[in-house]
Amino acid sequence: MTIAIGCDHNGLALKEALLKDVLREHRVRDFGVFTEESVDYPDIAVAVAQAVASGEYERGILICGTGIGMAIAANKVQGIRAAACSDVYSAKMSRRDNDANILCFGGRVIGPGLASEIVTVWLNEPFAGGRHQRRVEKIRALEQTESEIL
Ligand code: RB5
Repeated sequence: MTIAIGCDHNGLALKEALLKDVLREHRVRDFGVFTEESVDYPDIAVAVAQAVASGEYERGILICGTGIGMAIAANKVQGIRAAACSDVYSAKMSRRDNDANILCFGGRVIGPGLASEIVTVWLNEPFAGGRHQRRVEKIRALEQTESEIL
């Protein structure tokens, strides 16, 4: 699977741990950051989100302090369904029900062991489709309505 990954300064340590562990077997492009110098998380979120929305990468992973800012920013990009998850069940359901294409973590919230487990489950869980497809289509329709208003 092709994966775009990015983090801010608060997510750097967790990103590096995932790259060395669970993400080794995947084709991953790292969109930064590469130092602990303070940055603005939306700048990284939009780069990863656009790489996924364009189809260049199948999935994305974004890490900041809580995962929340990254998810909020990434979800502004059309076609992105980003889910901030700190447990295996939510991550699994974000794939099964919501067809989430970006997973967000908080580097200050969870450790590398749990994060690796969440990534494994999230990458392998298929979208259930059916009635969930209809719901995802409604989210897509909302994006269209919003862009028509603007
Ligand atoms: C720092 O900018 C902090 O707000 C960020 O890492 C993240 O937690 C945002 O949601």
